[in-house]
Amino acid sequence: MYDIRPVRAEEWRESRDLQLRALQDEDAAVAFFETYDEALVKPEEEWRNWAKMAGSDAEGTPFIRDFVAVTLFGEWVATSTLLIRMAGDPELGGGTVETDRGEFIGVWIDPQHRGQGLFTRLVEAGMSWLADNAISRSALWVHEENGRARRAFEGVGFERTGLRVVESKGPEIQLGRPVRLDSSAGLGGAVGGYSAPQATSRGPFPAP
Ligand SMILES: CC(C)(COP(=O)(O)OP(=O)(O)OC[C@H]1O[C@@H](n2cnc3c(N)ncnc32)[C@H](O)[C@@H]1OP(=O)(O)O)[C@@H](O)C(=O)NCCC(=O)NCCS
Repeated sequence: MYDIRPVRAEEWRESRDLQLRALQDEDAAVAFFETYDEALVKPEEEWRNWAKMAGSDAEGTPFIRDFVAVTLFGEWVATSTLLIRMAGDPELGGGTVETDRGEFIGVWIDPQHRGQGLFTRLVEAGMSWLADNAISRSALWVHEENGRARRAFEGVGFERTGLRVVESKGPEIQLGRPVRLDSSAGLGGAVGGYSAPQATSRGPFPAP
C-alpha cells in the first residue's frame, strides 16, 4: 500500500510541498516548532540544500535523513526525519545530550492516512536506518497536550525519559526508547508489551 523510503535530493519540491501541507494541518501548532508562514518564505536554495543533506544520496557521513510514505498512486502522504545527535550536543532547554541518539522530528501523516498502521512502519523505517548507522538509542520531543502523538509513540515502545521543557508553545516532554527493543542497549533497556514488526521497506523540520 505504501512505499516508505528516504527522500532523494532531486525530490526537494515534493519534500517542500509535503512539509508545507503538514504545517497547515490543524495539529501543527502543537506538533511543530516551525510555522507555515516561516516555511513559506524560505528561499528555494534552502529547500534544495535540506533535501541534499537529508536525501538518501547525501555525500559523506549521514547525520540526517528524511523518510516519506508514497501511495501506489504516487501521492506523498507522510514524512518523518531522523536527526543523529551526539553526546555533548546541546539539549533542548539547556544541558547536553547524554548518549548518541537518533531524534525523530517533523513526523506527520496526512489525516486521511492516520490510524492504518502507517505510523508504525514509518518509525520502523527510521529505526532500521539508525541501526545501520550504529545508533542504539532514539528519542523525540512531543508537546504535552499532543495526546495522539504521545499515544502513538508509546504504542511503539517509547517511554518518558523524565526531561520536560517549557518552550514558547508550551510544555514539551521527551520520550525515548532503544532502537532495538530486544536489546538492553540504551538507557531504557527492553520495553515490554511491544513487539517490533519486521521492516517491510527500505528504510523533517528544523531541530527543536
Ligand atoms: C502523530 C501521528 C504521526 C500518529 O499517526 P497516527 O496514524 O495518527 O497514529 P495511530 O492512529 O497509529 O495511533 C494513535 C494512537 O492515539 C490514539 N488517539 C487518537 N486520538 C487521540 C487523542 N485525541 N488523544 C489521545 N490518544 C488518541 C489512538 O487510539 C491510537 O492509540 P491506540 O493505537 O492505542 O489505539 C499523526 O496523528 C499525525 O500526523 N499527527 C499530527 C502531527 C504530529 O502530531 N506529529 C508528532 C509530533 S511529535
